Amino acid sequence: MRILVVGSGGREHTLTWKIAQSPQVDTLFVAPGNGGTAEIAENVAVADTDIPALVDFAKKGHIDLTVVGPEAPLVAGLVDAFNAAGLRVFGPTSAAAQLEGSKAFSKRFLIEEGIPSGVGAIFHDYDAALAYLHGQKAPIVVKASGLAAGKGVFVCATMEEAENALQQTMEERVFGAAGDEALIEDCLAGEEVSLLAFSDGKTVVPMIPARDYKRVGDGDAGPNTGGMGCYAPSPYLPPEVIAEAHRRVLQPTVDGMRGRGTPYVGVLYAGLMLTERGMRVLEFNCRFGDPETQVLLPLLENDLVDIFLACAEGRLSEIDVRWKPAHAVCVVKASGGYPGTYEKGKPITGVAEANALPDTVVFQAGTKLAGGKLITAGGRVLAVTSIGASLEQARTKAYQGVACIDFEGAQNRSDIAAGAPPS
Ligand code: GLY
Repeated sequence: MRILVVGSGGREHTLTWKIAQSPQVDTLFVAPGNGGTAEIAENVAVADTDIPALVDFAKKGHIDLTVVGPEAPLVAGLVDAFNAAGLRVFGPTSAAAQLEGSKAFSKRFLIEEGIPSGVGAIFHDYDAALAYLHGQKAPIVVKASGLAAGKGVFVCATMEEAENALQQTMEERVFGAAGDEALIEDCLAGEEVSLLAFSDGKTVVPMIPARDYKRVGDGDAGPNTGGMGCYAPSPYLPPEVIAEAHRRVLQPTVDGMRGRGTPYVGVLYAGLMLTERGMRVLEFNCRFGDPETQVLLPLLENDLVDIFLACAEGRLSEIDVRWKPAHAVCVVKASGGYPGTYEKGKPITGVAEANALPDTVVFQAGTKLAGGKLITAGGRVLAVTSIGASLEQARTKAYQGVACIDFEGAQNRSDIAAGAPPS
């Protein structure tokens, strides 16, 4: 088979790495890819949002299956365009991707389907939103409804922060049309878990649960990032709680989307908060998580291509999705200054040494090859994933890998997977 992966981050390097292990694959392309994907596939100089150019490449390149990493092309209708062109693709249509593309849609859907989530209100009008906010208490969450490159959610410790977040979103329009609607939600406390699932539109199969670390600093200090590390499986979601999430969240979501005439095919990512009053959906994403993918796929036993084909062909119930009885830890190394401004073009050393460590693999994100040398090209530069028989073993190995790698200004958290209870 000839397979095309769309995207350029650590998630897409991991997808490419796992797909490359499939005996069904002859040729693998990544558009546009990064320095890591260039080593195991052919990078194609097409932006992940250039849907007509991607259709053209898939047609002319006789691509048998396209796998989409990021949310933006999904929400923009990549899958619809591929379907219309008769090209096989893994991911939700634009209508189904609204579960992530519009937080207002998602909130209304959760309420209509009786799926547990936090109390919240949706606003088109800034003055009405501000009046509602003044009737609430901090801490409180303000969200832009549309896609905002992961920056549209504000967890506000004070009313002043919340007013500022609302003003930026709805008045200053820092996220553009993503701020046409805004949500104000109660701040939920508890353990956060990422539960991703494969769906063929009817059957939904949960993956093992993962824990993402979103803040830049140790102890969850500092601003939110795209994710500074991850581990799986999360001990906070044992099999009986996964079964509950399947019954109360995943299956009703897939059934509800099918009932609306917009079946959900692809990866459904439920961000869950385990509160004192039970599980609540924080958000849905319409794709694999980053960096969740970097710990999930190394633990997946199956040929990932089998699962993608089964989802695309509506026969996921035939697949026995199996996981290694092990633990994975991933630690992200980021550019100095990230998630604020940072410099690019710094030479990276030690990737080969880290990759040579047992049970360890380096997934690249913000990297590129320049004159045969690997240099930084983004905020989250790369992630080191290790597998171990215990979480502690995996953590120790991952940090050994991190210690091998260096570039000017490099930063990483030192507490990924620290202190998690044994599972
Ligand atoms: N890890 C968070 C996300 O992928 O959105």
